[in-house]
Amino acid sequence: MPLLIKNGEIVTASQRYVADILCEGETITRIDRDLTAPPDAEVIDASGKYVFPGFIDPHTHVYLPFMGTFSKDDYDTAGRAALIGGTTTIFDMCCPARDTEPAEGFRLWNERSAGRAACDYSFHMGVTRFDDGTPAQLREIVGKGVTSFKIFLAYKGAFGIDDTELYRALSLARELGVVVAAHCENETLVAERQRELLAAGVRGTEGHYESRPPAVEAEGVHHLMTFAQLTGARVYIVHLSCEEALREALAARARGVDVRVETLIQYLLLDRTDAERPEFEGAKYVMSPPLRERRNQAVLWDGLRSGLIDTVATDHAPFDFAAQKSLGRDDFTKIPNGIPALEDRINLLFTHGVQAERIDLHTFVDIASSRAAKIFGLFPRKGTIQPGADADLVIYDPAFRGTITAAGQAMNLDYSAFEGWPISGRPSVVTLRGEVAVRDGRFVGTPGRGKFLARQPVPS
Ligand code: URP
Ligand code: ZN
Ligand code: ZN
Repeated sequence: MPLLIKNGEIVTASQRYVADILCEGETITRIDRDLTAPPDAEVIDASGKYVFPGFIDPHTHVYLPFMGTFSKDDYDTAGRAALIGGTTTIFDMCCPARDTEPAEGFRLWNERSAGRAACDYSFHMGVTRFDDGTPAQLREIVGKGVTSFKIFLAYKGAFGIDDTELYRALSLARELGVVVAAHCENETLVAERQRELLAAGVRGTEGHYESRPPAVEAEGVHHLMTFAQLTGARVYIVHLSCEEALREALAARARGVDVRVETLIQYLLLDRTDAERPEFEGAKYVMSPPLRERRNQAVLWDGLRSGLIDTVATDHAPFDFAAQKSLGRDDFTKIPNGIPALEDRINLLFTHGVQAERIDLHTFVDIASSRAAKIFGLFPRKGTIQPGADADLVIYDPAFRGTITAAGQAMNLDYSAFEGWPISGRPSVVTLRGEVAVRDGRFVGTPGRGKFLARQPVPS
């Protein structure tokens, strides 16, 4: 059924104006004033509301075998949660174990998501081992439309790759024109510090920060920058958390390294003290790199405002508190790492970014949608509002007032890291390729309608 959205204030990364939007089939077909509805159209009045392009989360772990357990969501629950929060596309990390061939990993992630995802999705292909058999498999995966890799400089013995593998993975990426997303922490420093802390009797969540201080992350970034400079690969630093790491990235950019930077909503709003809450509550806030000293938040907001930091993601990695985070009750190194936020990213960014006047509306759209679409080869199909683009639209009510609670969330999880946080704004209606998927906080779409998005390499 065609959809006519009337009188909304359309906001993209560069434009802001009041107009009507006609969606036919899966795409936006017209944008103009006073459009007449086709006879069979649904008409939605968006007066007094913003209309944003569907938001994009460039970093999630919906399916993740990790630290002896599995992330709790699946592509249905996570997709519904994403849509309710205004996110219409996710980039999930396809992370096969080191002893699994990339082709087998890719098959597995496809099997889990195809026909089940509620929102649209793509993958970053994890390169968790690089041997003689790897390049041919990665070429084939890139040919199927996964034009970004993911590597880990952390997680020794699990996803982490060594320097030879790193050099070869980046060289191949350069040849294929794909972007490499990278988790930057020096895995040897982490392992040694964990060993020392445990030997000294530190077992609680406070050990997590001490094992991975800012210097560990900054060294990881510096390391990646050197390899990117020498191979000429295009790189994207995921979940950058602190000033020290940002300085390394910017220094490399200044000497010509093609580097983009992502931070997370968690680093913008939570801090080290959350991960050190008593009675093991801090485990809810254990992720890597760790939540930092509060002073870093101003640096990250500045980076977003000035365009030095490109995107705000979630790194959504959901592990239940009761059964999963508790695996590390007596040993902080065994707490599954991750702080879920897929459902709440946009409302938190709007509340604490736009409403708090830290960022303007265009920056909001850019860092939460457009820039990711551009970096990873989806623009202008996704990430903006124009004729020909997918009809992924978020009709957003800035007057809504609510509170985040685990009891009210769609994410399949027994806690919220933002329990009790007020939000000022919420999507009233969310459309996914022309179909209304959310109304007033409830999923009303078609289960399993989310599409795998095949991409082309982005010319540099
Ligand atoms: O703590 C985190 N970030 N968990 C998810 C896996 C990763 O490192 O991205
Ligand atoms: Zn990571
Ligand atoms: Zn991650």
